[in-house]
Amino acid sequence: MVELAPSILSADFAHLAEAVQAAERGGGTLIHVDVMDGHFVSNITLGPPVVQSLRKATRLPLDCHLMIENPDLLIPAFADAGADWISVHYEACPHLHRTLQWIEQHKMKPGVVINPATRVDLLIDILPMVHHVLVMSVNPGFGGQKFLPMALAKLRRLRELRAEMKLNFRIEIDGGVAQDTVAQVVEAGAEILVAGSAVFGKGNAETNSRSLLRTAKQAEGAKQTAEKISNAGKHNSPTPLRARRAGRAR
Ligand code: DX5
Ligand code: ZN
Repeated sequence: MVELAPSILSADFAHLAEAVQAAERGGGTLIHVDVMDGHFVSNITLGPPVVQSLRKATRLPLDCHLMIENPDLLIPAFADAGADWISVHYEACPHLHRTLQWIEQHKMKPGVVINPATRVDLLIDILPMVHHVLVMSVNPGFGGQKFLPMALAKLRRLRELRAEMKLNFRIEIDGGVAQDTVAQVVEAGAEILVAGSAVFGKGNAETNSRSLLRTAKQAEGAKQTAEKISNAGKHNSPTPLRARRAGRAR
């Protein structure tokens, strides 16, 4: 089922508790926390102390997206602060296998993130280790950027790989998700929708969350109906009928 993960990057940092609670009332089921170090990306945001405060403000899982170099150094501190999900960038982790194990050893859900320029197939060997894969549909570092449609093919490829490899990792998308793009990302296979400016930009975070989620669920419903029709078509194909007749003739 499709879920909304409001990203507090676009919220008022002086009022994070209220922001998170409004997004939760609007149907958000995860809180997306963007951690930036001024090295891997040029922006700087927050770290474990803020996660510790957020932990007191909500019971929703905290989905921490680390846009930092050397994430291994901070993983114990994020675990102590109460982070639930931790995703690290493929591009920032030369020893990704070890980093994912390290997250798991700290009892958090390990995820991997890929930038727009990184191919999904580079993840094949570590897909069995991850709880979620986060596809960036903007270059990381800032909220409010334009959605990059090249992410759609990555979502489709991940769905394909998940089925082929019989895995069950979740597929998450981050960047430029808003009313005008959400239907296409859901249609392509995204299940967790990170949204910053579409939730905390203009207007009210609660109603923004609710209407974004409504559009996402409509797209999900349409996708499920299309899949049912296509599966029914396969079952009604002439081949099984011929096979049944052949069986009767024997
Ligand atoms: C960007 C962050 C995103 C950001 C998305 O580097 O990873 O989570 O909050 O913001 P919007 O939804 O405004 O594109
Ligand atoms: Zn993010």
